[in-house]
Amino acid sequence: MTKTLEKDSSYLIDNTLIDPLMDENHEFLQDPYPLFEKYRAIGPIAWSSRGNQWLVTGLEEANQIVRDNRFGKNMSLWKNPNLMTRLLFKFLRARSAGNLLFQDPPEHTRLRGLMQTAFLPGTIHAMQTHIQEITDQLLAEIKPGDQGDLLAQLAFPLPVTVIAELLGIPAADRDQFKHWSKLVTGSLQGKVCPFQALKSFRASRELRAYLHKVIKNKQKEPGHDLLTTLSQIQTKEDGRLSEKELLANSMLVLIAGHETTVNLISNGVYHLLQNKEQHELLKQNPQLLEAAVEEFLRLDPPVQIVRRIAYSDIEVGGIKIKSGQAVTMLIGACNRDPRVFAHPEKMDIQREKFKHFSFGAGIHFCLGSELARNEARIAIATLLSKYPDMRLQEGQLSYRSPFALRGLEHLPVVY
Ligand code: HEM
Repeated sequence: MTKTLEKDSSYLIDNTLIDPLMDENHEFLQDPYPLFEKYRAIGPIAWSSRGNQWLVTGLEEANQIVRDNRFGKNMSLWKNPNLMTRLLFKFLRARSAGNLLFQDPPEHTRLRGLMQTAFLPGTIHAMQTHIQEITDQLLAEIKPGDQGDLLAQLAFPLPVTVIAELLGIPAADRDQFKHWSKLVTGSLQGKVCPFQALKSFRASRELRAYLHKVIKNKQKEPGHDLLTTLSQIQTKEDGRLSEKELLANSMLVLIAGHETTVNLISNGVYHLLQNKEQHELLKQNPQLLEAAVEEFLRLDPPVQIVRRIAYSDIEVGGIKIKSGQAVTMLIGACNRDPRVFAHPEKMDIQREKFKHFSFGAGIHFCLGSELARNEARIAIATLLSKYPDMRLQEGQLSYRSPFALRGLEHLPVVY
């Protein structure tokens, strides 16, 4: 029988439980997984009155929703209980016009077709040697037994350098990018304070102005990079790509591809160093590396949410989702769905082949997934062979806000 909000309250989240996007707190940031299990106990799809949104913990249900074109990306329809967040979504939608992540077909189909050229398997494969060179350079001065912060020394600078090169941006500007990307992604929280929102607006304006300048230079001095390819398409003025879209999607690649990959490398290394038996297994069996990276992605995903708006009344898993309602897929919960994974809370790099939800699914499936996987594999393989006795330093680690991008503040290790 279909459950609707009016008829049945068995899937309502108790108001004493926090909503991850509305009430993020320190305890939740440190370990969100116990709360996800409380939602799961209600059902694979549960209603949060605090957040005015459905929260999805079931892998099958999440896959069904993101593959159904009756769900889309027009977040300005979401009646978020927080006024500031509502205004921010309206603003972001207007500002990010042309950004493919926020588009529905047919615009999404056209833009994705153009952007895809930069992420063809051959292009990503050809970058491998260079990713290895950057990794080696970053670790060149670090000797076994040295103490350091793996996040600052490798996990952060590697992806930002790779993206700067993919786009064709001078690597010297990478610190400025870190700053902008951090401020702009701050707006991914469910509840946004006015001060944060202002900083976020300012950062996105500055980043846009900077990219505009770089693109103009590419038109005079073309290179072998994404900005050159896209600016050549744009200057043809045949309607395939406007200048606004070129800018919006360049920003998207920077933001989508940076902090996410930082988190994959650092969360992965953290879990491996915490788990001596799995660490040893991987050292003895380097052929398990690809499977290990998939397990890191499953166990503690770098991106924790994907959201859609229902464009009509739709039934999913026996629940009626009404037109205009927001649905948030909790990726970390879907990846631990016990109906799919045995002992889902355990790291097991020898799991039977599986499909996690960490790169989403359907038409918005992550464009940079192979690039991110390659960076993580190269970074982790290099660390294992150069520092076989690497371990964590003593002490409690903390996670950054917002929860939507799950990553550590620092990762102090003894190499
Ligand atoms: C571990 C690293 C990464 C994770 C976990 C990740 C995760 C995701 C997820 C979950 C989505 C789907 C969003 C949705 O359905 O609403 C997505 C989309 C996207 N990602 Fe990634 N991403 C990663 C790395 C990258 C990299 C390295 C790039 C580019 C250099 C990138 C570029 C994109 C783009 C352009 C989209 C939008 C695709 C579309 O809307 O069609 N991502 N990513």
